[in-house]
This record gives sequence, C-alpha cells and structure tokens, in this order.
Amino acid sequence: MKKNNSKNIIPSEDIPGLEISARPRRNRKSETIRKLVKETYLEPGDFIYPVFIHDGNSDEEITSMPGCKRFSIRGLINEVKRSLKLGVSAFVLFPAIKDSYKTPLCEESYNSKGLVQRALRELKKSCPDATLITDIALDPYNSEGHDGIVSPSGEILNDFTVDVLCKQALSHAHAGADVVSPSDMMDGRIGAIREILDEEGFTSVSIMSYTAKYASSLYGPFRGALDSAPKAGDKKTYQMDPANSREALRELMLDEEEGADIVMVKPASHYLDMVYLFKDNTDLPVAAYQVSGEYLMIRAASDSGWLDEDKIILESLLSIKRAGADMIITYFAPRAAELLKKQY
Ligand code: PBG
Repeated sequence: MKKNNSKNIIPSEDIPGLEISARPRRNRKSETIRKLVKETYLEPGDFIYPVFIHDGNSDEEITSMPGCKRFSIRGLINEVKRSLKLGVSAFVLFPAIKDSYKTPLCEESYNSKGLVQRALRELKKSCPDATLITDIALDPYNSEGHDGIVSPSGEILNDFTVDVLCKQALSHAHAGADVVSPSDMMDGRIGAIREILDEEGFTSVSIMSYTAKYASSLYGPFRGALDSAPKAGDKKTYQMDPANSREALRELMLDEEEGADIVMVKPASHYLDMVYLFKDNTDLPVAAYQVSGEYLMIRAASDSGWLDEDKIILESLLSIKRAGADMIITYFAPRAAELLKKQY
C-alpha cells in the first residue's frame, strides 16, 4: 500500500452530510471578539484587603501564611499607601493581641486606646482616602479563643456576647471605622449594633455582615496568624454547617431585617453556590471572602510549580465575581491589582 504522507493532507471543512447549525466558536474567534462578549471584569475596586497588625515596632512574617505579614502601625500605613496607588482602597483590620491582654470577658476589645482603635486613628490621619473596615468578634481578645464569651460550663453565651460586640463596634466607630463587620455569628448582633450606632450618632457607619459564615477547616492559617484558635471545642454552635444552604437564606433574611448594608458568604471558592443564591435572593450587595486556606492552597500549588500563580489568582477571583460577588475580600488584593494592570 502507498505510504500516506499525512503532512500534505489539507483537512477539508466540507464534510458531506454534516450540518452544524449553531457555532458558538464564532464568538471566540479573535481577541477583539472575545473582549466584546466578555461578561465579567475584575477591577482593583472590587477588592477588600485583609491586613494583620500587631503591637510591635517592625513587620513580622507570618509562618502559617507565607507571603503575609503582621504589620506594625507604621508598616500598615506604608502598606495602605502602596495599595491605594494600585487602586485598592478598602481594608479590614485584624489585630494580633498579646496574651497578657486576653481575658474571659474580652475587655480589651473596646479599649479606646487598644491596637485597632489606635491603628484607625493613625490611618485616618495618614491615609484619608482609605476605607477602613473592622472585624467585630471577640476571638483575638478572648483567653478562650472563641468569638463569644464562654460560660464556666463551656457554653458560648449569645446575648452577653452581643452586648460586648456592641461596645466593640461603638469604640471602632469612635476611632474612625467606616464599616464594622461582625464575623462572630451570634444571633441578633446586626440589629443590636445598628441600634447602638444610630443612638450614638454614627448613622453613616455601615455594617458588612458575615451572614453565612461556615464552620470551615479553611480558617486554620488565619488562626495561626492571630494565635486565636479556640482553647477547647470548635465553632460549630455558632458558625454554619457546610452542609446547609437553606439555613443561610434564613440568616440572610434576618440580616436584611436587622439592617445590614452588605451581606457576606465565607469561604468563597467552595461556596460559590451560596454566592449565587445570595445574589438571587437579595438586593443588598454581596461580598465573598477568599479565606486564608484558599490563599494557601493557591500559594502551595504555585510554589511547588504545579500551577501558574498569576493565572490562578485571577481565575479564582474572576470565578467568585462571576458567581455574583460584588466585592471580594482577598489576601491577594494588591497582587491581583498589579496583575490586572498588566492584563489590560
Ligand atoms: C474570626 C475570624 C476568622 C476569620 C475572619 N474572622 C476565623 C474564625 O472564624 O475562626 C477567618 C479568615 C480567614 O481564614 O482568612 N472572627
């Protein structure tokens, strides 16, 4: 038989009998067409940058989160200025509190001269263009490591905790917080915080609620960064069961009624169904938190050469936005902003 030189055979697109009526590939045929039909865009203004602070004079590398630092207040100001230049202008502050300030009743959380309160005042002076969001929860201040006050029998007390959270939120508002963000998952805290803020004249301080915060195993590296892991038990009596989605809609309804301005799903990537569901069920803006474990999975896979870090960072964020997030809390915020600059 004659040898077939396949290189010289020009494949024909004319296949008799084959009729293809729809050709979606036409909308992918060139970079220009692809840009015209693109549905989702990321921009630096979509990002909220979570930053860790401590009461030291210098910045420290965080062992459990390679690439992230615990900043001194001075260091934080530099990081905020660097981020503002890249178009990232919203920040959530997470404090690492010295063990000697941690108590069962978490009094340090509303100390007007505490670390977060001082950082807020300094940042407001040095970086007036930054939007400052604070975490409302007791875990960094709690000798028990829980987000709420723990009773002698080991129960997480709801109403007692809400009372302390109100004091914490108020002290952050006094120090200059633009947004307070309760991450504790106690019942009734959004309404109680709204009420006290309004009573004290802080009607323009917003509330970004961690509405569906799941009891996820993806928070481990964050707890290492703040040394805030629970001393006993887990957070399953207040954070949600990863198996549930209808329960999240109930939380969503309550947060709307109680006066939340922004509702959040956390974690993000493994919970995109929840982001989509929230978008469909509320007119409030939806935030999603790409948490420490998601950050580390991307870092670990790219540090070992398995994934292309730049591409996976942007793809993960784009997917969260496509699912319906109006804003994304991400440790990659300044990095992603730099990558976007190169892309467009
Ligand atoms: C604590 C808090 C946690 C995170 C944000 N606020 C940890 C937890 O609930 O145990 C997790 C963030 C992350 O993992 O990046 N209230």
